[in-house]
Amino acid sequence: MSHFCPVYPEPRKKRTSMWKFFFNARRSWLDRLYERSYHMQMGEIHLPGVDLYMVNDPAMVKLVLQDNSTDFPKSPLLGNALRPLLGDSVFTTNGSTWQRQREMMEPAFAQARLKVAFPVMKQATEDMLKRLDRLPAGTQQNIEVDMTFVTADIIFRTIFSQALKGEDAHRIFKAFSRFQASAPKLMLPAMFGMRWLVWPWDVWRSRNAASEIRGLLEARIRPRYEAHMRDGKGEGESGSTDILAAFMSARDPKTSQPFSFNELVDQVAMLFLAGHETSASALTWACYLLAKVPDVQERVHAEVTAQLQGRSLMQPDLKPMTLTWNVFREALRLFPPVGFIVREAAQKCPMRDKLVPKGASILVSPWLIQRHRLWWHEPDAFNPDRYDEESTRESLRQAYLPFGAGPRVCIGAAFAMQEAMVILSSLVARYRLEVVPGHVPQPVGRLTIRSANGVSLKLYRRPLV
Ligand code: HEM
Repeated sequence: MSHFCPVYPEPRKKRTSMWKFFFNARRSWLDRLYERSYHMQMGEIHLPGVDLYMVNDPAMVKLVLQDNSTDFPKSPLLGNALRPLLGDSVFTTNGSTWQRQREMMEPAFAQARLKVAFPVMKQATEDMLKRLDRLPAGTQQNIEVDMTFVTADIIFRTIFSQALKGEDAHRIFKAFSRFQASAPKLMLPAMFGMRWLVWPWDVWRSRNAASEIRGLLEARIRPRYEAHMRDGKGEGESGSTDILAAFMSARDPKTSQPFSFNELVDQVAMLFLAGHETSASALTWACYLLAKVPDVQERVHAEVTAQLQGRSLMQPDLKPMTLTWNVFREALRLFPPVGFIVREAAQKCPMRDKLVPKGASILVSPWLIQRHRLWWHEPDAFNPDRYDEESTRESLRQAYLPFGAGPRVCIGAAFAMQEAMVILSSLVARYRLEVVPGHVPQPVGRLTIRSANGVSLKLYRRPLV
């Protein structure tokens, strides 16, 4: 049986000039990949500003991300581009600062918190369905917008115990797409040793977008922070303990100091970004894949209706819906939101047949590894049933890392999986998703993998069962 293979930029057969490479990569790094990138175990590119080593060999990936992770700290390349928005948050810091921040944040993401997050996810999803219900049947809808709104709403409610208002959501999305667009324009000149090519307009655009988003978040954090410092209070609106309350109560295990105000804003801004941009990207692709392969969509619908038997979704319903999980896992394999993980070699080190110099950048690409010709059977095909096959076990163990690996593995992985299950199962239970004839989403690699032309779908309400 042949499976659907979604379109992605055709890999290049041979190298191009550095100028062409530079200008095209500003648009999307996916356009710059070579055919051999999907076969090789390790490759290198020497740019004027940095030596880059691309690592696809699972043993080397384990060395970099897990076994010797302290020798491979986070690279400043991405951190510098993200700093205007994320400051010095857990996503970009290293060493003892990172360790302290991670330990202070971990309780907010403990397994038990998933239960607390479930009703929030469900309510935000129901609000999304109400918005969709208002559209005439079959309206052409850019599902990316809906997935971005609902995931931003979920993380906002989880942090602040408050729903995200339409006008705030709109401002944030516009500011964030300006920020996304300028990030590669700040990062690439540094990689090419051509910082003079950073246009002041891009620096201004990035700072301006970041300060708009941070301003909005700060306005919600400040009154609660001041109340907390004054009298130890500062719970969310309903008195519940949300993520902001957990962060304000967190103490450094060594010094017993809390987060400073600025550090708190950095962590919240980072969580807001990491907690919705990634999930929105993966969910958008999952919706597209389901629309494109109606028989899988019908099987997901049958699975959800059989599980729910006409009642409303509860948290224990999620685990048994294995096909729905597999659809989302497959969307994360084909379109991993974080397409590249970048580390820096703190000292020179041998890797396979190469001696990687100190200061070199190491790129581990979930996009390449999860589509690698050596590690996956039919790597470009959408086949959620592959996870039921014994032969996929090894590929999964060695070459599947949408959430990264090692001590810096995504802190929100379980949160993201639960959220995706709530959204996908509720959406497919209510609607039949159809592709728009002639519309083919074009994946582009920016901060996450998005579609250059959106993902237009038609939604038809299903009869009640
Ligand atoms: C499908 C959704 C998501 C994907 C694919 C994803 C992916 C990743 C990846 C690959 C990393 C590691 C980056 C690296 O090693 O350089 C990461 C880190 C992180 N993610 Fe996620 N993420 C997702 C959702 C979330 C959510 C929902 C949250 C929070 C609510 C979150 C919070 C974080 C944080 C705080 C880090 C930094 C961890 C550290 O460095 O210690 N992510 N994520």
